[in-house]
Order: sequence, then structure tokens, then C-alpha cells
Amino acid sequence: TVKGVLFDLDGVVVFTDKYHYLGWKKVADDNGWNFDEEVNHGCRGVPRLASLQVILDHNKVELSQEEKERFADKKNEVYKELLKQINAEDVYPGVIPFLEKLRNAGIKMAICSSSKNATTVLDALDLTSFFGAVITGNDIEKPKPDPEIFLKGAASLGLTSDECIVFEDAESGVQAAHAAGMKCIGVGEAAHLPSAKTCITDYASVMIPVQTP
Ligand code: BG6
Ligand code: MG
Repeated sequence: TVKGVLFDLDGVVVFTDKYHYLGWKKVADDNGWNFDEEVNHGCRGVPRLASLQVILDHNKVELSQEEKERFADKKNEVYKELLKQINAEDVYPGVIPFLEKLRNAGIKMAICSSSKNATTVLDALDLTSFFGAVITGNDIEKPKPDPEIFLKGAASLGLTSDECIVFEDAESGVQAAHAAGMKCIGVGEAAHLPSAKTCITDYASVMIPVQTP
């Protein structure tokens, strides 16, 4: 039985993946770089500078470390500006009833997000109290697909890997969950999540084998 659920945040609990995309789109457009939703799938789950590298590689552009940091900062500024307007409509449909259902079943929950802005998002949408642990990009050394973030999430809940299940919208995140020895449900279209054995686009359809109290 499952005792804990570890959620990625952007693109899983909230639609902030859209704002990450728009942040990079602004930087790309300003520089005449090609960037679209398809390329953006490679930016999911990976840290700021690694996301930029995906775009640079796609455009065969080489930059100095200093320039990379400047563009990554610029994207984060745009992203944080967009965050000022987030509201209940940015929460993935069905997520709140799903979290309530898990809480009522005594399931422990954690957020495991690569983002350094994750706590800002959770607080702005009043979601923090659902989670027994929040692990963010500030708490890890090795990014997804390394398992560190999920191992930390499970440990913070006092659980082992085989007691946890992960929800992820990033291929890097699905790989990280598997590397942590956890089952993972992909959120989004299966075509973008080749490592996920199961994908959902709707939380109402999720059946988790939980122990009823
Ligand atoms: C992840 C997003 O959750 O956070 C990535 O999927 C993003 O797109 C990463 O690059 C890092 O976020 P931030 O907010 O720290 O730049
Ligand atoms: Mg994500």
C-alpha cells in the first residue's frame, strides 16, 4: 500500500509551467532564438541554467557563463512578475479534491520541486498546509533526474521509497522517481513522458491503493 505521495509542483499541482514557458519565451524572442512548447518539454523539471542550456543547444548558440547567468536572471524576473497574478484558477483541475481525499485517507504528502520559487507559489495559493514536507531547488545539490529530491521528500515524511508514489510532468522527474526506487505517474501526454508507465491528464481518474483507516 501507498503511504505517501510526492508531488512535483509546476505542471503537476499548478499551471505555473505555463509561466516558466512564458519567461523563457520572452528571453528567446528578445534574442531571436527559436523556442516553442515542444522545445519547452526539455525545460521541465530541470533548474534554471539547465533550462536555458536546452534552448541554447536547440539554437546552436554558445554563451559565456556570465551571459548565461544574466539571461537566467532575466527569465526569473519575468517569471516572478507573472507569479504576482496567480490565483485559484492556476491550480490544476481536481487537485484540491484529490489532496483532500489523500489527507482523509491518512496519506502523507510532500512537494518535491526543482524550483527555487516553489514556496512562494504554495503560499500564494494557500496550499502549503496539505504538505508534511516541501523540498525545493534550495534544498538539493543534484537536480532531477538524480533521485536526491525524492529521497529527501520520502525521508522527511519518514517513509521508504516503496511506500511512496510520485506525480511528475517532466521526463527528468519520472527518471528521478524511478532512480529513487519509486512508482511514478506521469501528468500530461504520454508522448512527452517516455519513461512513465502510466499517465493521467485528470486527477478524478486516479486510483491509488490506499489503506482505509
Ligand atoms: C521546475 C520547472 O519546477 O523548476 C522548470 O519545471 C524550472 O521549468 C525549474 O526551470 C527551476 O525553477 P526556478 O523557479 O528556480 O527557476
Ligand atoms: Mg514540473
